[in-house]
Amino acid sequence: MDQFAQSEQALSAAAEIARRFVRGLGDRPVAYAVTPEELAARIDEPLPARGSEPGAVLQEWLQRAEPGIVASAGPRFFGFVNGGATPAALAGDWLASAIDQNAGPWLSSPAAAQTELTVLRWLKELFDLPVEWGGALTSGATMSNLVGLAAGRQWVGKQLGFDPATDGLGGKPAIPVVSSTEIHASALKALGTLGLGRGTVRRVAAPGGAVDLDALAAELARVDGPVLVVANAGEVNTGAFDDLAGVSEVCAGHASGAWLHVDAAFGIFAAASPRYRHLTHGIERADSVGADGHKWLNVPYDCGFAFVRDVDMLRQAFAATGAYIAPGPGAGWDPMSHLPEMSRRFRGLAAWSALKAWGREGYQAMVERCVENAQGFARWVAETPGVELLAPATLNIVCFRYTQASADAPLLDDLNRAATRALQAGGEVFVTGTVWQGRVGIRAAFDNWATTPADVDVLKAAVGRLRVETGS
Ligand SMILES: Cc1ncc(COP(=O)(O)O)c(C=O)c1O
Repeated sequence: MDQFAQSEQALSAAAEIARRFVRGLGDRPVAYAVTPEELAARIDEPLPARGSEPGAVLQEWLQRAEPGIVASAGPRFFGFVNGGATPAALAGDWLASAIDQNAGPWLSSPAAAQTELTVLRWLKELFDLPVEWGGALTSGATMSNLVGLAAGRQWVGKQLGFDPATDGLGGKPAIPVVSSTEIHASALKALGTLGLGRGTVRRVAAPGGAVDLDALAAELARVDGPVLVVANAGEVNTGAFDDLAGVSEVCAGHASGAWLHVDAAFGIFAAASPRYRHLTHGIERADSVGADGHKWLNVPYDCGFAFVRDVDMLRQAFAATGAYIAPGPGAGWDPMSHLPEMSRRFRGLAAWSALKAWGREGYQAMVERCVENAQGFARWVAETPGVELLAPATLNIVCFRYTQASADAPLLDDLNRAATRALQAGGEVFVTGTVWQGRVGIRAAFDNWATTPADVDVLKAAVGRLRVETGS
């Protein structure tokens, strides 16, 4: 058998295993049932001295890893903000591996580069963003935030008379960052990576989750010089949106200039529906936007996207040159000059397939279905004794808690921690715990394309059965 026939055989084996997995996805428990020690005992072993047949290897891995697989792509996984994979996205992702393009330089795959460029344009059309903005497909919203903030860092540096990407930050004036108390951990991580500091962000009050515009204006007034502002379109606990038009107005009023970055990891999908588009009103006035593909676009991990108004700032932040990779005359758009990576996976094909297969209407319908599921669950929580909403459900996240009439605040917090654990251990539905405005609660996110009202009924029933005690 030649080497490519072996690949064919391995692919057939993988296809069979994957087909069975996907078929059973809706029925799988959504939680894992294994300790780290047990999983290590199942999977860990010395490097095999001799090889095995690829199909058999995959089958063996599945059998060993099974208790550690989380059906997070399934319809009853309401934890974090995880999406699933639409049929076209999943198939496109497979094909991307089989074709195995290096989607870094134009030179190594014009097909990958042009496909990504088209995906970026389609996404801008879907979200009503200016088509002339630059962008990049990333590995997720954290990297998208990093891309937008790197371009912003470049812009602020330029106003202050230096080039951060070339000169570094040492000995240069500080780059101030203003956001709200609800800035996501991912934006902080990006700021830390960029040398701007996680701990130096000036955090303005955000009662209810959305930044207080007067407080923001007051904070900016205390900043002498250009500034980076990070706004939220879809706060992770409640789905709350900053008033982006208001924030951009405040930024425009800052005499030395402000770069407005919006973390819109999942919230940007509100713009895919005329019903919810008002929530993102003003996002088109931002300087950069970071968002996610593996959340509400429902493409497999990993995928995100970033958009930047000033393409020069983006290119300056991520310029990479070398005699052997110079694009040369006649070359097209070079992905690697717009993001942190050089060689990289052809993520664009999964996103292209997903968008092509559903089109604008398909995505609008899916977003609306998800929001209806979320709103239906939120109504049920509001009407059901024993549970209560911790915040209004703005879009697709429901933040709620278990209640007991006789319990004081610390006991309620304990009970809700126990309730989250009990829901997770049940394996029927997966939700995540959180703390919202000092109170321990539970959050459910609705952004999986395959979730049906029947799945939401399973969630209601699981929450309705909760009878927790501390220590349980
Ligand atoms: C608002 C927000 N920003 C950023 C992120 C980080 O996304 P990722 O894990 O894809 O990097 C998340 C993830 O939940 C999020 O909700």
